[in-house]
Amino acid sequence: MGIFEGVADTEWAERAAELRSQIDYHNQRYYLDDAPEITDAEFDALVAQLTSLELEHPDLATADSPTQRVWGEASARFAEVRHLTPMMSLDKTTSYEELLAWAKRMDRFISGEVAYTCELKIDGLAMSLLYEGGRLVRAATRGDGVVGEDVTPNVVTIGAIPRALPGRAPDRVEVRGEIYMPIPAFEELNRKQGESGARTFINPRNAAAGSLRQKDAAVTEGRELAFWAYQLGTVDGGPDFARHVETLDWMRESGFPVNPNIELVHGLEEVDSYCRRWLEQRHSLTYEIDGTVIKVDDLAQRRELGATSRAPRWAIAYKFPPEEKTTLLKGIMVSIGRTGKATPFAMLEPVNVGGAKVSLATLHNEDQVRVKDVRPGDTVVVRRAGDVIPEVRGPVLGLRPEGLAEWHFPEECPVCGEKLVRLDGESDTYCVNDQCPGQRVQRISHFASRSAMDIEHLGERTVSQFCRAGLLSDVADIYRLDYERVAGFEGWGDTSIANLQSAVEASKSRPLANLLVGLSIRHLGSTGSRILARHLRHLDRIMAASAEELAGVEGVGPIIGASVQRFFATPSNREVVARLRAAGLNFEGPAAPDVAQVLAGRSVVVTGTLDGWSREEAEEAIKARGGKSPGSVSKKTTAVVVGSDPGAAKLAKAAEVGVPVLDEAAFARLLETGELPGAGAAP
Ligand code: IVH
Repeated sequence: MGIFEGVADTEWAERAAELRSQIDYHNQRYYLDDAPEITDAEFDALVAQLTSLELEHPDLATADSPTQRVWGEASARFAEVRHLTPMMSLDKTTSYEELLAWAKRMDRFISGEVAYTCELKIDGLAMSLLYEGGRLVRAATRGDGVVGEDVTPNVVTIGAIPRALPGRAPDRVEVRGEIYMPIPAFEELNRKQGESGARTFINPRNAAAGSLRQKDAAVTEGRELAFWAYQLGTVDGGPDFARHVETLDWMRESGFPVNPNIELVHGLEEVDSYCRRWLEQRHSLTYEIDGTVIKVDDLAQRRELGATSRAPRWAIAYKFPPEEKTTLLKGIMVSIGRTGKATPFAMLEPVNVGGAKVSLATLHNEDQVRVKDVRPGDTVVVRRAGDVIPEVRGPVLGLRPEGLAEWHFPEECPVCGEKLVRLDGESDTYCVNDQCPGQRVQRISHFASRSAMDIEHLGERTVSQFCRAGLLSDVADIYRLDYERVAGFEGWGDTSIANLQSAVEASKSRPLANLLVGLSIRHLGSTGSRILARHLRHLDRIMAASAEELAGVEGVGPIIGASVQRFFATPSNREVVARLRAAGLNFEGPAAPDVAQVLAGRSVVVTGTLDGWSREEAEEAIKARGGKSPGSVSKKTTAVVVGSDPGAAKLAKAAEVGVPVLDEAAFARLLETGELPGAGAAP
């Protein structure tokens, strides 16, 4: 009985009617108002429930059920246009078993080998472009699949869409594809919207839809929209295609952007591995995808297969698990980090999203809360994508209870009560009281963390306990912990104390760079710490350096320079350093390079795999001789060292700008003498 177990017979009809009206309502919010109240996945779940109910009780199925139609209607804002070939929807699967079932259903219609084209399912807006006599005459949204909206004036503003086709074009052809907004353009648009006080968009798909369905095409023109072509509709008086891949080639040759990640595969195992691969790699793309689309490649087989009333039998969408969900925003709190940074975060009604239960999500900073205008009590869209920390994307305005109060960033630190400070031109707000207990716990646990002094057994919870007990008030206290008192705490036996003692002892000899990381100096991360340790080679020299001297070190710059100088000029920090010195911590950086600085001021690019050096070793060797090893070739590059499998772009650029290309032997000579082949010491 599946998901409808426990529902009495008499209730099924009512449940079906309720689901239908819910689906109709959300269709209207999505297609007509551009203001969806639930995520696509939640919508799909409603449809899946109705479909399954209708399958179990065929007598309940009605001809006008949303499961039998393509969703969406043309809105009154744009003229209606009838597609020459209807734009159908796609059936969906979420598992390999369902893919197998789909293939099995096809066995009833076709026999023999089936080749599949695997495509990315672009998360945008379906578009049908009609060309007559080679000229773009009309662009229409999908609408209800039969009748769509005429958005031609908006679409002609999109540079990627050809206005005319080259060569002998078909008399009439419908090119279908997805209009989407690349992620960087979406982020930039939201930044601008925020700056001008306008509402931000929840995701790239909404931004694309909102940008396209504008009465004033000039607004669309100002938005960066892109297009991937993936399907032909009607083709009159044109080439006779036998396979889908041929249609893709034709579209590419005709000037349409065709996604480079489309693959022709044989067998469902290969289909499955394509789907898995892209599920894993989805975040490597600069646009959002919400699944893959699998299509039968042979067009004769497609004709045999035909379609149901809403979807072709020859294609199926493999939907990825959703990364966005809606949930209730119970409250907004502000946390204080180790540098005093005050970060607003959302307390949510727990929701499963992106493979984990999410009850907290970041709101980044004061401006983000303001431009998103999220308020406690709102239903919000939460996104958790890959390893990225969950974030609140925005409120569902249609569900906002009346009279919900705006949220304002607090003026005082929620931990110590001191005034919070936001410097001019900065987006972050800080608690500047360095005695703030909130900062203290974060600073000490960061000092002990793996990326800094790596003190095992001293995690945030222990630090917090020791701070509350008055055993720790700064990082130097770690080295004079009162272990007798620790022994009195619950859960601390002889062994755990001995383990902690030896971990603390071991940390005294960590490299200088780790100590610098551990001090929580604003703007100074692990790379900057390593550079300072290598160049100045002793903490005393770093402490004595002026902001200008520090900023002059390659890779440091004025912001870090000023921050480091300010940190060590602060008496309380100097006092902590004095106690760390007394405790016997290592202040020495790596030994001075004893190699001649034959590459000082010169830049050597390494590409491909070398036999004698790993990439890191080769770059270190260049830097140890005073040189730089950037990732790309320019006119200023001294030489390009080439191993096996080199980067084609780097080689081409080297040839274009006339930079010498060295093999491994010539590289060894360059490192030793600074000389390029066939030359004396280069200038
Ligand atoms: S083919 C009859 N290919 O997914 C087949 N659709 O849920 C027509 N979509 O309305 C669609 N990427 O907006 C196809 N590579 C792709 C696609 C794709 C995204 C969208 C399209 C369609 C929806 C179906």
